[in-house]
Amino acid sequence: MTTAPVPKVLLDAVLGKPTSRLPVWIMRQAGRYLPEYRAVRAKTTNFLELCYTPELATEVTLQPLRRFDLDAAILFSDILVVPDAMGQSVRFETGEGPVLDPVTHQTLAALKPEKALEKLSPVFESVRRIRAAIRPETTLIGFCGSPWTVATYMIGGHGSADQAAARIFALTEPAAFKSLIDMLVDVSVDYLEAQFRAGADVVQLFESWALNLDEVAFSEYVIGPNRRIVEALRKRVPNAPIIGFPRGAAGNLPAYAAATGVNVIGLDYAVPLAFAQSLPKTLGVQGNLDPLRLLAGGDQMDARVCDIIAAFRDRPHIFNLGHGIVPQTPIDHVERLLRVIRES
Ligand code: CP3
Repeated sequence: MTTAPVPKVLLDAVLGKPTSRLPVWIMRQAGRYLPEYRAVRAKTTNFLELCYTPELATEVTLQPLRRFDLDAAILFSDILVVPDAMGQSVRFETGEGPVLDPVTHQTLAALKPEKALEKLSPVFESVRRIRAAIRPETTLIGFCGSPWTVATYMIGGHGSADQAAARIFALTEPAAFKSLIDMLVDVSVDYLEAQFRAGADVVQLFESWALNLDEVAFSEYVIGPNRRIVEALRKRVPNAPIIGFPRGAAGNLPAYAAATGVNVIGLDYAVPLAFAQSLPKTLGVQGNLDPLRLLAGGDQMDARVCDIIAAFRDRPHIFNLGHGIVPQTPIDHVERLLRVIRES
């Protein structure tokens, strides 16, 4: 006798199927706002060790699911494991964020993309363990950073408000820039394929620095590489369900949605609801509560959550924040958020 498979509401929403309830997950749902995360983190000497130790990465992935009624687990890792795995020096310094030895025209050739997958194998082990530990109705989300966003850290050596180092590099060293982006496209396709094979149901492409680009640069650095990843991945994993999150894309969002072929577009919190409603109705959307409304909590949060839900009733919608949850967020505000969503 065969039993019907248990539906995964979040995966179904990504695939555009009707769902019994509004699916929800929270960007950076495993992280420093949780005391149990801080306790595990305190036992590791550095952040990358946490990402590369399947036992610990699995544990912190599961932590938010034990507390909250979420529809997805997201693999605990970081977008910067990819440059690390290609041999670039990547460090996370407390209070400072990531620090990398910037790639230059000269050092680019020393990167070893062919070694990356082997170095990333603990991540695939984490995916297998997480899949085995979560309920069958919980969707497992894998991810990578999109090539431009990862390149901004690789070239600049750290985060920056305007990504000037990478924008200048792209314009003044176009051949070197192209080879870096091509390398990241290839490694990302291998990396995401391996995550699917290990048990991921959906992947998200984090293009966190899609802002500050004119339309020509946006098309070249953001749309092109994301489209190539989607196309190449779907040749290897037919119909691979993909969420694209081009943070700050603003007026470039419709072009991104049309050209990349992602199933769902992640909306940052600055995207007006009426603008998002004008996107094609077959496209799913994810978002887009301002994380600081969650931090502040109370009636203002509830009102905005209701507006967001009402705006997207006529299309596939996955509720989420419009960027990652911040470490100062009170846990009872997250509980309240989920109550409001469940009662909507
Ligand atoms: O969402 C999840 O729960 C999964 C884990 C996850 C992390 N980083 C863990 C993390 C995911 C999906 C990411 C993605 C990521 N990493 C992005 C894209 C999303 C976004 O926020 O725009 C970016 C740009 C990075 C790079 C990165 N990693 C930065 C800039 C920092 C430092 C800033 C910060 O929040 O501390 C990190 C470190 C990081 N990645 C932490 C966590 C939980 C905090 C490190 C610590 O615990 O010491």
